[in-house]
Amino acid sequence: MPPRKIIIDTDPGQDDAVAILLALASPEELEVLGITAVAGNVPLPLTQRNARMVCELANRRDIPVFAGCDTPLERTLVTAEHVHGKTGLDGPDLPDPTMPLQDQHAVDFIIDTLRAADPGTVTLCPLGPLTNIATAFTRAPDIVSRVQEIVLMGGAYFEVGNITPTAEFNIYVDPQAADIVFKSGAQLTVMPLDVTHQALVTTPRNDAFRALGTPVGIAVAQMTDFFERFDKEKYGSEGAPLHDPCVTAYLIRPDLFKGRHVNVEIETTSPLTLGMTVADWWGVTNRAPNATFMGSLDADGYFALLTERLARL
Ligand code: RIB
Ligand code: CA
Repeated sequence: MPPRKIIIDTDPGQDDAVAILLALASPEELEVLGITAVAGNVPLPLTQRNARMVCELANRRDIPVFAGCDTPLERTLVTAEHVHGKTGLDGPDLPDPTMPLQDQHAVDFIIDTLRAADPGTVTLCPLGPLTNIATAFTRAPDIVSRVQEIVLMGGAYFEVGNITPTAEFNIYVDPQAADIVFKSGAQLTVMPLDVTHQALVTTPRNDAFRALGTPVGIAVAQMTDFFERFDKEKYGSEGAPLHDPCVTAYLIRPDLFKGRHVNVEIETTSPLTLGMTVADWWGVTNRAPNATFMGSLDADGYFALLTERLARL
């Protein structure tokens, strides 16, 4: 089977970085057509810089990196330096990127790539706020039906929110964009906090990354050393949730995940619950299912996959 063509839309972010590295370490399953940066964890100048630094860490200067939207569709940008550090990629001391940023805007790259590819052959992998994706769908509605699948990290239901009591960060930053994507009709697979909070980088798991002894293994362990302090203090957990690699891991090993095809809608107005993903898990409404919403993960299998694949870089 040929590798699946994907576009990674991202706001690196240590966990985004690991998701990108996993994809680049898995050429049998995934062909990364490009990486599109969006404002989220940190502002756009940093997310596009961090995306290029991660490509160079993987020795993949050939991967085109594009800068996209620097503000949400309607709201003021909310960032997460308190989690990811002021650079967004605090932890390892990575060199400044030397590979160029592409001149083309990320949204135009998404549109052009989907229009040029055979219908149903390109998967979108959003790991941050959905601003780029929603802007592309609004500017070029014809591309929605050409998308093979959208596999995104975002949302929460049973796990509730991580940036407000009800909202997960990616959706909260741009709820209007999320509303457009969730109502687009594209095939949607969602990795919410319900499943990513089962992907905790415990000390033994992070030690396995470090024990690889490679620049990638050591850098990932250093990213986790930094990234985990916030979640361990907040949740009293054994380690940080490695959210975004759930997206690329799903494309490699879907059997690691279990979920349910349900209706999911986005709260876009209430000041109390703005950005909440309202998942009709028990089918109590007549709203049509529009997303496969993941609820469980084989965490040991997930970290075994990550460690085995990161060792390749
Ligand atoms: O809520 C977790 C998500 O927000 C992850 O994608 C993390 O990188 C941040 O973007
Ligand atoms: Ca992210």
